[in-house]
Parts: sequence; structure tokens; C-alpha cells
Amino acid sequence: MGFGWGFGKVILFGEHFVIYGVPSIVSAIDKVTTATVESTGGSGWTLDDRRQATPGYKEEKLEQQRGSINLILKAAGIDPTTNPIKITFGGDLVAASGIGASAASCTALARALSDEFKLGFSDDRINELAYEGEKGYHGTPSGIDNTAATYGGLIWFVRGEPNVIERLKIKRPIEVVMGNTGLVANTKAAVAGVRERKERYPGKYEKIFNEAKELAYMARKALLDYDLQAVGKLMDENHRQLQAIEVSCKELDQLVELARANGAYGAKMTGGGLGGNMVALTPGKDLQDQVARAIKREGFEVLMTRIG
Ligand code: MEV
Repeated sequence: MGFGWGFGKVILFGEHFVIYGVPSIVSAIDKVTTATVESTGGSGWTLDDRRQATPGYKEEKLEQQRGSINLILKAAGIDPTTNPIKITFGGDLVAASGIGASAASCTALARALSDEFKLGFSDDRINELAYEGEKGYHGTPSGIDNTAATYGGLIWFVRGEPNVIERLKIKRPIEVVMGNTGLVANTKAAVAGVRERKERYPGKYEKIFNEAKELAYMARKALLDYDLQAVGKLMDENHRQLQAIEVSCKELDQLVELARANGAYGAKMTGGGLGGNMVALTPGKDLQDQVARAIKREGFEVLMTRIG
């Protein structure tokens, strides 16, 4: 039996903008999706998806997931009609929007295939396969999610030819709280919406994109200087930029407000938006507990984790 895993992630700065080459900052989180691959009889592949998930998530993504698995098998050079397999997903990452669930499962599957068929893929090759798989979900992914899912850590990512992938070393990990709106989001639609508006309002969007680029460099410096007040303020500002390109929603804005009102240094939507997750910077266990409690009290699921 082949085994593999992929990390969940949280984008701290620059989702959506990253697709157009704006630098972005992502951190893997300490939750993983696992995959096993077993050779079976019959023909083709079967899937047993045992991941915990936001209600509706798996059903909503089923079609995209099937396409994604086929893309990964093709890229790995495995034909399931002659090599029938059973794929099982598990792990402690709750499958939800905005937390890198699709990328974590793509990475996990690529690793499990490499293990089962003794392909000896390097991390770079695993990342390429996971990127192929991400196309099944996003259409035109930037590659940021699969990069975090594959390599882990805190990463400065710039999409390009080739991508810039730089590990950022900070003094010590920082506590964050993620709050789940419970809404399953369609990243493909969110990305398409930005593209359409960007074409319709080029002046307005160019200005916001330039500001997002400047902000990414400031955020990088603030993280490396370990100036957490500044990091929080920049997250707030990034959230405003994401609101301006219309990828936030009222539930995300509510979670952001709730986190800030309860002492978070800063908060923003994270990932594709239009539902999914919010991330709040809550250095120290006490502040993290306080913010998490306040969000839970309002009936939302929370995840307490660390970045860096
Ligand atoms: C999704 O986690 C992040 C987006 O920027 C899409 C992408 O980068 O592929 C919205």
C-alpha cells in the first residue's frame, strides 16, 4: 500500500493578486490530508473519501475532484485501466474552503502514487503533479496552495517562469485563529469574477493591484522583523483590498470584525473567498483562546493553529 500526505495552508497575504504575479505569503498549517493507494482487481480507480468536511463540501466538489484525480494519474503516467487502484483520503485537516483542502489532497495522492508504484518522485515533482491536480479544481491555479501543501513552512511565493518559492524564517511561530463561515465556496467562480471585473475596470484594478504588491513587501519585512502589530495592520489592509475586488462576503466580514473586536492584531479572509475561512493574528495562547471562544460563541467552527 502506498502512503502520502499534504499540509493544509493559510494565505496570509495576496490571494487572488498572486494569480497575476503579485508576491504573496502563505503558511502551511499543522493539519494534513493523508492518502493511501492500493492495487485492486477490476478496472479504473475507486475512492473512499474519509476526510471530515464542512457539510456539503464533498458533494459540491465531487465533479472537480474526479477531474483532478484523473489529471494527477495522467501526469504520473499511471493508467488505472491497466493498474486498477483504490484511493483513500483521511487525515486531520477538515475539508473546507480557504484552507487548502484540494491542494493537500492532490499532494497526498501524488506522494501515495509515487510510493505505491516506486516512482521515486522528488518533492519538486510531487509539487508539479499536485499543481496538475489543482487545475481540476481551479482551472488556472497560481500554484501557491500546492507549494505550501508540498513543502510546508512559511513561504514567499511569486508566480512566474519559474515561480519564486522562498522559505521565510521568523523568530518563532505565531498563533492564529481560523474561522469557518460554513459556506462552501467556488474558487473557480471567484477567480473568474476578478478577471472579468479587472478587464471591465482596468484603472481601478490596476491601482488596487499596485497597492497589493507594495503591501506584500511591507508584510514580508514586518514578518521578518517580527513586528506583529504591523503584520496585523497589514492583514487588515489586505482584507480591504480583497473587499475592493469583491471576493469577500458578509459572513467573512462578520468574522473579521468579531476577531478584531476581541483583540486580534489583524484579520482577513483567506483563500478564494465568497465563503470559506477567515484568519486572525492572535499571538500568544491567551489571545488565541479569547478570539476562538468569541467566534465559537457565534456558532462558527474554529481552528487554532500557528504560522511560521
Ligand atoms: C486560493 O487558495 C488562492 C487563489 O489565489 C487561487 C490561486 O492562487 O490559485 C484565490
